[in-house]
Amino acid sequence: MQLIDLLQVATLPPALIERLSENYQIHQCVDGAGADELLEKVGPNIRGILAGGTQGPDANLIGSLPNLEIIASHSVGFDATDVVAAQSRGVLVTHTPEVLTGDVADLAMTLILMVTRRVGESERFLRRGEWLKKRMDFGVTVKGRTLGILGLGRIGKAVARRAEVFGLNIAFHDIQPMGDLPYRHYPTLTDLADASDILLVACEGGPANRGLVDASILKSLGSKGYIVNTARGPIVNQKDLIEALKSGVIAGAGLDVFDGEPTVPDELLEMENVVLTPHIASSTHETRRAMADLVIANLDAHFSGKPVLTPVPPQVS
Ligand code: 8YV
Repeated sequence: MQLIDLLQVATLPPALIERLSENYQIHQCVDGAGADELLEKVGPNIRGILAGGTQGPDANLIGSLPNLEIIASHSVGFDATDVVAAQSRGVLVTHTPEVLTGDVADLAMTLILMVTRRVGESERFLRRGEWLKKRMDFGVTVKGRTLGILGLGRIGKAVARRAEVFGLNIAFHDIQPMGDLPYRHYPTLTDLADASDILLVACEGGPANRGLVDASILKSLGSKGYIVNTARGPIVNQKDLIEALKSGVIAGAGLDVFDGEPTVPDELLEMENVVLTPHIASSTHETRRAMADLVIANLDAHFSGKPVLTPVPPQVS
């Protein structure tokens, strides 16, 4: 059987690559390593690209593969792939929505509780032996506070449902009309930040949303406010965030994503009032299995002449 050639441009779970290897010949080119040599050899054979949430093909790479038909991203977010360049050439792009929503929302809720109840800080306090000398300082109750959600998509809504159970009031800002919802809508992000005790970043990444949460939004959130980001690091201006955390413009942050990850600025590493996790929102055995299943199902469908299951909708530049 003739294997179909795929170019792998993202770090992906070995189990996914192993399963794909039954029907596909995978050529590794993560972070551009050895790209020129590899593409000269196999470029015209490549019919598909394997991408991820933070590593995907740019317009140059897409344009250099004459027989490219599909880009399958092992992620719900597709901002690392130049989708406009792909779709304008008739190249299909698929992603993995729905299957990770629950786990990502669980982690967002975890970060909300961890940062307000000072869980990370308390654990470090205990491990340092300080409990033997004094009591840990108090956190704050979430019940009755307002969670402002920036981007009320699948994940934002799933966090809202969880947060309601904890007694939080839900407010949101979104550029899409949302129809009738039991949550308070704010027409601008500044208004939302003003009204929120905790601001959750749950919108799409990409150039349009880069730096959306900046010094002025953090100022509106205020000195008793917290920010939680499980979407994409660059949506928050990281310099402004560090400054706001240092100077008490906001009270704390729970961050699963960073601008420039996996590098995390030393200033954040040293702060007590932040909870930091290494982009693990979808990292459970169950969800990663379901994401891998969907990547394989999309590729198999396409290469057997059937419609893909979860295409990225048409994007405009
Ligand atoms: C993953 C993600 O960390 O789905 C996304 O958009 O960022 C995450 O689920 C990553 O894409 C795994 O490849």
